[in-house]
Amino acid sequence: MRTIDWIDGRVRIIDQTALPGELTVLELARVEELIDAITSLAVRGAPALGVAGAMGVALIARDPRYPTPDTVRTAAVALQNARPTAVNLSWGVKQALLVADQGADAILAAALEVRDREILNSTQMGERGADLVAELKQGRLNVMTICNTGALATVERGTALSLVRSLFERDLLGEVIALETRPLLQGARLTAWELSELGIPHRLTIDSAGPALISRGAVDLVVIGADRIADNGDTANKVGSYSLALAAQRAGIPFIVVAPESTVDAATASGDDIEIEDRGSAEVVSLRGVAIAPAGTRAVNPAFDVTPHDLITAIVTESRVIRPNLP
Ligand code: MRU
Repeated sequence: MRTIDWIDGRVRIIDQTALPGELTVLELARVEELIDAITSLAVRGAPALGVAGAMGVALIARDPRYPTPDTVRTAAVALQNARPTAVNLSWGVKQALLVADQGADAILAAALEVRDREILNSTQMGERGADLVAELKQGRLNVMTICNTGALATVERGTALSLVRSLFERDLLGEVIALETRPLLQGARLTAWELSELGIPHRLTIDSAGPALISRGAVDLVVIGADRIADNGDTANKVGSYSLALAAQRAGIPFIVVAPESTVDAATASGDDIEIEDRGSAEVVSLRGVAIAPAGTRAVNPAFDVTPHDLITAIVTESRVIRPNLP
């Protein structure tokens, strides 16, 4: 089943807040419901957010509250700003708005094209990435990853996890070491679930063990996704990625970013210009509703960090391999 799709005039998503306990589907008829799903991370992951952005404009355009192209454009602003770091969300909204003057059917067609393109992109990124890895490293490889970059973060298959899957299909994978990804546990809840559904060997570890495991040779490479890639190759991804990149450089192993071209943001010069979402204290001071810090504790909760381009061995997209650390 697709992570996000358009069914009978509604946006249908897998509710990622309920996994791995329950596989629940939400059908969203109004843009407000979709915005709630985005902010609560019921739908998440940069490419899936791109599709959500485009389909959200399709919902707006079919809603009698927004009868003209200008009202559609105005209503799309809140959707575009629902989460700030993943450029795919605003990219998806803009793709759909390109045909705003042509009406609701044209907008829906543009949204479905965004969905279909992301499906193709996932396979192409995975295969291209596995070709690159096979060039860089021999034999069966152990791979570290963070957050969830699988089918749940896209429409099908994934970005970094698509590369992992291609290695597995070529019998080039030893095991995956997945970081749990505090505070919302996308690694533990979603990546471990996807990998076990696929029969891919994996172990889970706590985030703070990642760099230490790299330094002791537990993995041959690190593969991550991206939420925004600046013009100079600096890459925003789930917080914790930067420390893995530092450790990978120190250990001399490849650090590879896998993301579609829709994540590359030429309008952002460098990582310094990327807005990092802070999701507030509650997610840090409690774990799945149970308080883990004294009442009243304030937290800092950046959802993403920026890995400077010189720490990145390669960025793999559906159409190219960029080596941002080479002059
Ligand atoms: O906060 P999230 O779960 O939306 O963060 C997602 C990530 O950081 C992913 O690694 C990124 O979107 C790339 S996914 C294909």
